[in-house]
Amino acid sequence: AQTPVKVTVTGAAGQIGYALLFRIASGQLLGADVPVKLSLLEIPQAVKAAEGTAMELDDCAFPLLSGIEITDDPNTAFDGASVALLVGAMPRKAGMERGDLLEANGGIFGPQGKAINDNAADDIRVLVVGNPANTNALIAQQHAPDVPAERFTAMTRLDHNRALSQLAAKLQVPVTEIKKMTIWGNHSATQYPDLFHAEVGGKIAAEQVDEAWLRDTFIPTVAKRGAAIIEARGASSAASAANAAIDHVYDWVNGTEWTSAAIPSDGSYGVPEGIISSFPVASRDGKWEIIQGLEIDAFSRERIDASVRELTEERDAVRQLGLI
Ligand code: NAI
Repeated sequence: AQTPVKVTVTGAAGQIGYALLFRIASGQLLGADVPVKLSLLEIPQAVKAAEGTAMELDDCAFPLLSGIEITDDPNTAFDGASVALLVGAMPRKAGMERGDLLEANGGIFGPQGKAINDNAADDIRVLVVGNPANTNALIAQQHAPDVPAERFTAMTRLDHNRALSQLAAKLQVPVTEIKKMTIWGNHSATQYPDLFHAEVGGKIAAEQVDEAWLRDTFIPTVAKRGAAIIEARGASSAASAANAAIDHVYDWVNGTEWTSAAIPSDGSYGVPEGIISSFPVASRDGKWEIIQGLEIDAFSRERIDASVRELTEERDAVRQLGLI
């Protein structure tokens, strides 16, 4: 039998954790023939709640789940891990400045990056979900000098899936008809969902919708969907975020022709090298590759630049705070 793959989930007792762990254990993260070992990292106050979730995982009797470990020590949690889903983060509280938010998260993602550096398996792949996801991923990466930089990624797959769903509803087509969707930039309100390269039935999506809808409805609806979910549900998106995390890792490991992921920039499309920004990506042989050669018109350029500017400002802020 295959040796189980260790998957570490931080913030395991949180909302996303609850929606995520059962799907990982059922085989949806890596494939239906890959046994997994789960490691749940929580802060001390939430370890008991994580133990409760682990009891439920036991009660599912998942054939692929070979073990569960629960800890508040990052070194233990990441020891031998091949996949790390960094979900736990410090949320922005009322009145909190960006610097305070970045500093609080630096205190989480710096040590976790170091623990990954020192303990994870050689094939470790990291997906940061906890916000501000792109910059948290950069902080973790900068504390893991022995891990190849491209193993640190942040999640824009939920934004990608939201964009697919909004466009499918507008054009009354199944989501499967839509190809080449792209989210550019930061996982924040400045993100740019791009319909100028997306195709529906083989034709450019932007040409099948009116410009006002694209500009004034589609882009803001996708970018502000998180806030709309909070307003409706009274809690932030959790199941859809967990679903997107599953999609991201599954495609990274198993390959895809086109999706969106925030990965370290190599300078493509004028995005400064090193920042973790969302791009159109393919995955081949277990590695993300930025899809090259797309023409970027003035409309898209302006929006990509605005989101990338926000990312470079966040990078500069964490540098100034000594977090990287
Ligand atoms: P939650 O508040 O329900 O759970 C977070 C959990 O993280 C808590 O159990 C907390 O104890 C734990 N935690 C905090 N610090 C930790 C640390 N140092 N080590 C380990 N665990 C720690 O939050 P929820 O709803 O599960 O969301 C988690 C994060 O995901 C938030 O930052 C949220 O903004 C983000 N998010 C990102 C999305 C994306 O598309 N990238 C989409 C939706 C949410």
